[in-house]
Amino acid sequence: SMSHQHEARVKNLVKIEIGRHIIEPWYFSPYPKEFTHTPMLYICEFCLRYWASETQFRRHRTKCTLRHPPGNEIYREKEISFFEIDGRRQKQWCRNLCLLSKCFLDHKTLYFDVDPFLFYCMVKRDQFGCHLVGYFSKEKECGEGYNVACILTLPQYQRHGYGRLLMEFSYELTKRENKVGSPEKPLSDLGLLGYKAYWKDVIVDFILNVYRTGGKEADITVDEISQKTGILQNDVMTALHELQLLKWFKGQHVLVLGDEVLARHEKTVAKQRRRIDPSKLQWKPPV
Ligand code: ACO
Ligand code: ZN
Repeated sequence: SMSHQHEARVKNLVKIEIGRHIIEPWYFSPYPKEFTHTPMLYICEFCLRYWASETQFRRHRTKCTLRHPPGNEIYREKEISFFEIDGRRQKQWCRNLCLLSKCFLDHKTLYFDVDPFLFYCMVKRDQFGCHLVGYFSKEKECGEGYNVACILTLPQYQRHGYGRLLMEFSYELTKRENKVGSPEKPLSDLGLLGYKAYWKDVIVDFILNVYRTGGKEADITVDEISQKTGILQNDVMTALHELQLLKWFKGQHVLVLGDEVLARHEKTVAKQRRRIDPSKLQWKPPV
């Protein structure tokens, strides 16, 4: 027989309807009992409240006036915006966000104590409102130097470059704080894949830029990469090792961008995915 603990972690939702999407949860999420194991959980895509009854949900949708996350818009570029939401001031909304995101995060335990966190929500705007694509949470005061606690792209938007945008945004905030940062451990498998891809991409880009401006490998230090990108030194090292960029030459480490690395980088560039434009970020670190 299953232990209680095991039972408690078994997936408890069948399907979720949110906005135009019907999605299947991956993991257990602590929604109240009366909402679980029903054929469908209906979530209002704007206020993130939830219903097991479709009738009640549709009635709510005719009355709900919220059209964007309940915080300040701190970034806008084309149809993408970021909102900053304070967990202390928007407890219910942030708890509902955590409940939803727990469906796709296996190893996180934050859901109800949202006070110590800020939530950075990325939306796509259209004539109907600001549709949540993904978010990351960040501790207001983090002793460990984490710049992200939880990060999620809603499944219907995954693999389109939005995770990378969220990561890039998190490092832009860190750079504004004149800090370097790293995501909270442990990372999920997807989190690790996403971050490694991001770190490698940013670092190759950084090195290529040094070349373009007439610099040499010998001018580049791990510390400098870290300072300029906001990526923690350890993570820079991880990426350099993965890229096999560090070659031992005449008794010291040198950075060598091999053809293979360059070819892969070209492919990434060719995807022409959206980037964060730092000049569009209207944000100062909270004092
Ligand atoms: N398989 C292989 N590589 C992947 C995958 C995958 N399923 N997903 C992302 N990657 C890598 C790829 O290199 C990808 O680039 P490519 O698509 O050009 O090949 C790169 O990551 C970036 O992909 P994005 O499309 O930008 O990322 P996405 O929007 O899918 O978001 C994220 C990534 C946030 C990790 C998403 O998978 C997710 O929300 N997962 C569930 C929640 C989770 O695990 N979050 C991280 C927990 S750790 C933490 O919170 C600190
Ligand atoms: Zn609503």
